Amino acid sequence: MTKSNKILSLKGVSKSFPATARGGEPIDILDSIDLELHTATSIAITGKSGSGKSTLLQISAGLLSSEKGEVLFDGRRLDTLSDTQLSRIRSTSMGFIFQSSLLLDDFTALENVAVPAMIMGIGEKPAREKALHLLESVGLSDRLGHKSDQLSGGERQRVAIARALVNEPLILFADEPTGSLDERNAALIEDMLFALVAEKQVALMLITHNAPFASRCDEVYRLHNRKVEVIR
Ligand SMILES: Nc1ncnc2c1ncn2[C@@H]1O[C@H](COP(=O)(O)OP(=O)(O)O)[C@@H](O)[C@H]1O
Ligand SMILES: [Mg+2]
Repeated sequence: MTKSNKILSLKGVSKSFPATARGGEPIDILDSIDLELHTATSIAITGKSGSGKSTLLQISAGLLSSEKGEVLFDGRRLDTLSDTQLSRIRSTSMGFIFQSSLLLDDFTALENVAVPAMIMGIGEKPAREKALHLLESVGLSDRLGHKSDQLSGGERQRVAIARALVNEPLILFADEPTGSLDERNAALIEDMLFALVAEKQVALMLITHNAPFASRCDEVYRLHNRKVEVIR
C-alpha cells in the first residue's frame, strides 16, 4: 500500500461574483471553504445547480482566483502564482474532464491525446506511442484516426480521459463528466475513473448530480448555502 499524500488543500476559501456584468452588489458563492484531497483518493462534490460546484473546482485548479483563503497544490500556494506558472502546473500535473470536453476539431483522436504531450516537449514519436497506449486502455484502439466529429459523445469523453492522463497528472478534475451521456456510456466512464484512482494513484475531484456515482467516491460532500457539508 503506498502512502497517501495530501495533494490539494483549500483553507478558508471565499468567492463572490458581481451581481451583473456591469457590477452591483457582489453575490457570495463560497464562504470560507476548507477541503483536502489525497493521492489515490476520490471526493465527490454534489449540490444544486448554481450552488458553486464549478466555481470551487476552478479555484482548486487555479483557473479562477478567490478573494480570501489559500489553495495549496502539491505543496505550492496556487493563489500566489503567475498565470504562466499556473498554466505550467495545470499542463504537467492536472487533468480535466468536463461535461462536454472540447477536442481539437481537425485532429484525430490520436492527435488530440498526443498534442498535450508534445507541447510538454516529449517529442512526436513518444507522444504518439503514449497516446496510442492510452486510447487502447480506454477501448478506442479502433478509433485512432477518427476526427472528433466522427466520434460519439461517449467516445469523445473517452478521448478526453486519455488526453487528461497523457502528462501523468497527480489529480483529475471531472466536472459532470457523464452529464451528457446515456446510461451505458456513463457507467463505462464511471468505471474508468475509479480504476484510474486505484491503478495510477491519481486524486479525483468529481462533480456530479448523480447520487449513485457520487457515492462510489471515498468521500462525499455537498455544497449548500456557500458551505461544504460532509455527507460521508
Ligand atoms: N464569471 C461569473 N460571473 C458572475 N457570476 C458567476 C460567474 N460564474 C458563476 N457565476 C454564478 O455563481 C453561481 C455558482 O455557479 P457555478 O459554480 O457554475 O455553479 P454549479 O456548478 O454548482 O452549477 C451561479 O449563480 C452563477 O451564475
Ligand atoms: Mg457546474
